[in-house]
Amino acid sequence: MLRMLKTQGVGTVVATPHFSASRESVVDFINRREASYNEIKPFLAENIPDVLLGAEVSFYDGVSRLENLELLCAGESRLLLIEMPVKKWSESSIREICNIACRGDITVVLAHIERYLNYQSKDAWRRLLDSGVLMQVNASFFNSIRTRRKAFSMLRQNILHFLGSDCHNLIHRPPQLHQTYSLIEKKMGTKFLSDFTEYHRAMLRVKNSDNQ
Ligand SMILES: [Fe+2]
Repeated sequence: MLRMLKTQGVGTVVATPHFSASRESVVDFINRREASYNEIKPFLAENIPDVLLGAEVSFYDGVSRLENLELLCAGESRLLLIEMPVKKWSESSIREICNIACRGDITVVLAHIERYLNYQSKDAWRRLLDSGVLMQVNASFFNSIRTRRKAFSMLRQNILHFLGSDCHNLIHRPPQLHQTYSLIEKKMGTKFLSDFTEYHRAMLRVKNSDNQ
């Protein structure tokens, strides 16, 4: 998958294994993640994107009080990827996300929001955005002909901030970011695409590269 991502123009990948507080502590998770990273390290070569270690944190009531929550941010950044339940979120859940976003040392990114779009009110999305919460969608939201128009409409409104490959393997969910990049370049222009990816690098605190 990493080699394929490199051929698709990806220079840096954020690995986002699931973190669930009901299963393990943040420190145990980080140790387990480190051990897995050490296993793939010998294979990280020139034709492989840089890999940053992150997490996809499952939301639960009380997540804002989780000890060491900030250690789950991606790489050296302040970006914390949170996965919400696929249903209408309660007032207190929305408030809790806004509270994490407002604490100053963490920038919340909500994962694959295309899955939850229609469950939440416009007002809920507005409040999250106004609190500085950033939004991620999977590449398939752009690549699928059914949702492409919606994806570009949101991109133009500046309410989509990150793209996820959602790749899990080479067969059922392979990396398909090249298709997304070329769609964005075609519709929005080369300058937009390079600004978009430059923004990602800045938010992830990675140095300049020729790739996304
Ligand atoms: Fe997810």
